[in-house]
Amino acid sequence: MAYKTITASKLTPTLGAEISGIDLSQPISADQLADLNQAIADHQVIFFRDQTLDPASLKRVGQYFGELQAHALKGLPDHPEVRKLHADETSKHVAGEEWHTDMSCLAVPPMGSILYMHTLPTLGGDTIFASMYAAYDALSPGMKTYLETLTATHDGALAFGRFDPEGKFPKAVHPVIRTHPVTGKKVLFVNRGFTSHINGVSREESNALLQYLYNHAENAYWQVRFRWTPHAVAFWDNRCTQHLAVWDYFPQLRSGFRVQVEGNPADY
Ligand code: SIN
Repeated sequence: MAYKTITASKLTPTLGAEISGIDLSQPISADQLADLNQAIADHQVIFFRDQTLDPASLKRVGQYFGELQAHALKGLPDHPEVRKLHADETSKHVAGEEWHTDMSCLAVPPMGSILYMHTLPTLGGDTIFASMYAAYDALSPGMKTYLETLTATHDGALAFGRFDPEGKFPKAVHPVIRTHPVTGKKVLFVNRGFTSHINGVSREESNALLQYLYNHAENAYWQVRFRWTPHAVAFWDNRCTQHLAVWDYFPQLRSGFRVQVEGNPADY
């Protein structure tokens, strides 16, 4: 895991690394891009401190990694691919307050998301990420074999329906066990935020199995908890992680913005 242009400090034995030696507000060279792509493959989620970004420069960073996805929820007027994340004393909910993989309700979910936070509460507002490689690896051989035979439905109505009961939301079917297109490693691919049911089994079996798999996916042994500082950036690989935004700072302010990088249709 030696890189030419950056340094990575691991945050846990399983996932997460803080990257230093790069200013994301500046153009990214081919060597830097190769290192960042390698770092995301190596660490699943990477973090950067003390960056100075605005919506246009965050968008530019994201575009080095692929097309940007216009989110199901509204983007900024001048930058539809950039979504503001903001919580304050008027908030009734915050984005990501339940464990999820971003937009797994799409037939081709985003490969990753890049979140920049400029304003943070004095304490709290951490984001927790979990490794779905580790979750898969820790399943018993019999359970792995069984899960390989299953698909699950991921339904946007689960995540967004309560804000817009009349709305139409995407729905997709994905294998319960997927193979990461870059690393070739297997991942557990169900999440509490979007997965509505396992296909082809009874409702009882689906509910019981999903409950077990959610608890398993969220095990503290394969988590990293990121303590934000103003102007930090998190870039997570959505194909092998889940995350949770901890809303323990109400009524304080937490604000930033994010982009989602499109997945590759050939991988789904
Ligand atoms: C999200 O994308 O789920 C939000 C993450 C966060 O606000 O920390």
